[in-house]
Amino acid sequence: MNPAAPGSSNPLRTSAPLLDAYLSYFEEHRLPFTIPGHKQKTTLLDEGLGAVVDMDTPLYGGLDEIKLTSGVLKKAEKLAADLWGADYARFSTGGSTHANQAVVLALGKPGDKVAISRTAHRSILSALVLADLQPIWMSPDIDEATGFPIGIGITELERALKEKPIAVLLTEPGYLGTLSDLPTLISSAHAQGVPVIIDAAWGGHFGFSKDLPKHCLQLGADALITSTHKALPGYSASALLLAQGKYLNLARIEQSFETTHTTSPAGAPLASIDGCRALLATRGDELLGNLITLVNNFKREVQGNFAEPIFLNTSDFPADRFDPTKIVLRANQLGTSGVAIENALIAKNIRVEMADNDTIVFLATLADSQKDFDDLARTLIPILKELESTPRQSATALSWSVVPQVGITMRSAYFAQTEMVSAADAQGRISADLIAPYPPGVAVIAPGEILTEQILKGLAASKSAGVRIAYATDATLATYRVVMA
Ligand SMILES: Cc1ncc(COP(=O)(O)O)c(C=O)c1O
Repeated sequence: MNPAAPGSSNPLRTSAPLLDAYLSYFEEHRLPFTIPGHKQKTTLLDEGLGAVVDMDTPLYGGLDEIKLTSGVLKKAEKLAADLWGADYARFSTGGSTHANQAVVLALGKPGDKVAISRTAHRSILSALVLADLQPIWMSPDIDEATGFPIGIGITELERALKEKPIAVLLTEPGYLGTLSDLPTLISSAHAQGVPVIIDAAWGGHFGFSKDLPKHCLQLGADALITSTHKALPGYSASALLLAQGKYLNLARIEQSFETTHTTSPAGAPLASIDGCRALLATRGDELLGNLITLVNNFKREVQGNFAEPIFLNTSDFPADRFDPTKIVLRANQLGTSGVAIENALIAKNIRVEMADNDTIVFLATLADSQKDFDDLARTLIPILKELESTPRQSATALSWSVVPQVGITMRSAYFAQTEMVSAADAQGRISADLIAPYPPGVAVIAPGEILTEQILKGLAASKSAGVRIAYATDATLATYRVVMA
């Protein structure tokens, strides 16, 4: 069961203390009288369960001693802080969800306002409930040609700044790989002493190739949260939180990070964050350059079969406003639906990151090879040819176009007495649920907001188009959970 035979040399190990600690743990003889309860010997009880748990070891009593005497986590976090040029870095085993919540909890006091992009992930919204902060919503600019969100405009930010927020919360890149003009937004917020927190869950690779946008700390942001299991090859739910101390209180961030993190972090996610950091430091430019070439070649090959432009490309956007590793296929340009393409791909054992009526998103990472792209192209091209009909205009997805109407605060709605009402009776009522087509997990309605005709009709239409509607108490949408009148 050893991940690496004793003495085997892994080139990243020497520069990655947590990765080394993880591999060493399995190389050494041990007799643990500590957690985890499986003791890496559960195969003796049951092969199936053992196969799942026997490769697990925690931070405490695994990668380090129970008293953390070796300080391996601190060493690895310092290396990450240095690589990203941050004052502070923490590794989370709770995903960007946890890291977002930790930062938001550290910002202010109950009732304070934050300027927040409406494209925020639900983890940020639940953080507002936890911290009792009031959102000043900012809507993204929508690209006329594609109907896609292309980031928060400066006018929208300046409107929000007039309401005196204590922080600006942005999601960059967005789910479709587009970015706001961050340098302009950040300097505008900083001119008023307001920190900028960036949920960069999908942007862990930024800043490590000359062909990619810079990462947001390089652009002056105050906090960067990223999922090392999304664009980077980290363990599921591993995430990295990086912050600067000029406008943020790092001691408070540390306190809320610990308040909301498990006291038993698993070793593998932590070791994988350290390994991803070492990989970016040593081979990031080479590997990312190669990925961008593979993605461009793939898009060119598939595009060659069709007259209409079907992919988003960097040339469609101003410089540094699109992630070149992102593969976004515009199903409307082929007159078919993203969900229909997804279903045909699933039948061939290919899974995609996201599909809705007009769009399909393929997540390509450093782990994909030339062969993977060749296999995808070979399967995808005939499917697209088969489904192709008359191109249609894309409709701006509900997730990007809702104008929220706030009834009561999110926190009041979260703790209110609620009741279920039929969809027919829900219009005008205050939602107790956050409801989001998933992916992208962007709220169409948040707790405390009014269920409008646009939202109810839009959710019903998304559902019947085959999109999963997440977090609604009644996932069939026959009834809605609303605040008791
Ligand atoms: C923008 C954004 N932020 C945060 C998250 C949560 O990340 P995690 O799954 O690592 O908790 C997601 C997940 O999809 C996301 O899309």
